[in-house]
Amino acid sequence: FNEQQFCDDLTAWYRENRRDLPWRLERDPYKIWVSEIMLQQTRVDTVIPYFERFISLFPTPKDLAEAEEETVLKAWEGLGYYSRARNLQAAVREVSESYGGVVPNTKKEVSSLKGVGPYTAGAILSIAYDKPEPAVDGNVMRVLSRNLAIYDDISKVSTRKRFETIAGSLVARTVPSDFNQALMELGALICTPRSPACLICPVQEHCRARAEGVQDLLPVKAKK
Ligand code: ADE
Repeated sequence: FNEQQFCDDLTAWYRENRRDLPWRLERDPYKIWVSEIMLQQTRVDTVIPYFERFISLFPTPKDLAEAEEETVLKAWEGLGYYSRARNLQAAVREVSESYGGVVPNTKKEVSSLKGVGPYTAGAILSIAYDKPEPAVDGNVMRVLSRNLAIYDDISKVSTRKRFETIAGSLVARTVPSDFNQALMELGALICTPRSPACLICPVQEHCRARAEGVQDLLPVKAKK
């Protein structure tokens, strides 16, 4: 497995094939943040109209900070998991009070915000600020477990940490914003949970699972 070639091939594919999703039109950390929170438990197609409406109602952190909670929850209606919206507003208020309305650009600061876990922190820092931070969610663990033929149980915290170490080493070799989105995009469009499209995969030459014919066995997730 050649890390550099993998990163270069994946990033090149993303640049040719990226979808023009509304949160990709600019690099506003606040908009990236809102999109990542919405995308945590909700599919891209569902998120798009909610994202657009939410941003037109609350175009800046200041607008969201000053809004009535009721108005925010109303805008979230249908997305579910309302604690996401409450945490987001609390965090944006913190950004207004402690950071002058500017989303912070360090791991420590951004991770201290309510509702911002390691994945979201890495996504904001890499996508908005191009910092070489890993952003590991279930999709990324699937892509990496297959490419590297890693059989660790992805429901374990220690496994996520292992993938963060690996993804951190990869993202430092390339353009972080493109690379992390490329991993997400590959997981969404090609390296899908069932019947991955290995024949059209841009990194098929690197993939150990494909070489060994075990792509359908990975990732390993222990049943509860
Ligand atoms: N899923 C999570 N984050 C995403 C992003 N930035 N683009 C597309 N799908 C995603």
